Amino acid sequence: MSQDLAYAARLLLDAKRILVFTGAGISTESGIPDFRGTEGIWTKLSPEDFQLDRYLADSKVRIRAWATRFPKMFGNAEPNGAHTAVADLWNSGKLIGCVTQNIDGLHQAAGLPQEAIAELHGNGDGIACVQCGAPHEPKEIEQRWSDGDIDPHCDHCGGILKSTIVFFGEVLPHRELERANMWVEQADAVVSVGSSLSVYPAAYIPLEIASRGDTFIIINNSPTDLDSLASLRLDGMAGEILPQLVSAITA
Ligand code: APR
Repeated sequence: MSQDLAYAARLLLDAKRILVFTGAGISTESGIPDFRGTEGIWTKLSPEDFQLDRYLADSKVRIRAWATRFPKMFGNAEPNGAHTAVADLWNSGKLIGCVTQNIDGLHQAAGLPQEAIAELHGNGDGIACVQCGAPHEPKEIEQRWSDGDIDPHCDHCGGILKSTIVFFGEVLPHRELERANMWVEQADAVVSVGSSLSVYPAAYIPLEIASRGDTFIIINNSPTDLDSLASLRLDGMAGEILPQLVSAITA
């Protein structure tokens, strides 16, 4: 074990209520690109296409979004060792909750129960009407899309349908934010995994815990916006580092 990893383990050894904060970097080893890394999504797609007002105003933006989602937005991505390590930390009783910015559902697929997860940016599975909020069965909308309805509308009010992911300009889901903030209050340490820590309000989650002096460990393979506040940044791959760290503090 590297000196840094041993030091991080020592910093977390007495922690009983760890909050884990994850970003797109925890899923790149599962084959899902991040946003701001060298091959990130924002090097291929425009964030403009994920502005709520653009999505509502322009059918071409909606058509591109559905073509990104169907047939399989995340292909056959499987959780990797880092997702499994978060589930192991929950099973050890030391994880108070996992606040994720990701919409890929890989924390759930790794066995972390929904009650332990706050999906700040929504979840890529659901589909709802923007106007009346009516939920729609994703399989049914996918079938309509495959049959040529490339900009599907609401069965009830004819409104615009949208995946239940948070677009730029949209408020974060209240219940998820409420649970995340409750865990912030209770946490005695925070570990950020695979996030550039550059997007707010999400980044307030680790920032709040770090600002009051609690242990703040960052696992990331490049510098982040909050490195200066971290107790320690472990530079490298989440799938390699997090399992070793969790084993060291739960042994
Ligand atoms: N191990 C460790 N770090 C990694 C790995 C890996 N295997 N792969 C990528 N990283 C790092 C990248 O270097 C980058 O610093 O993870 C970080 C991912 O940062 P972003 O791409 O900015 O993703 P994220 O922090 O989740 O973005 C937050 O921005 O665009 C919005 O809504 C979107 O939820 C997203 C939010």
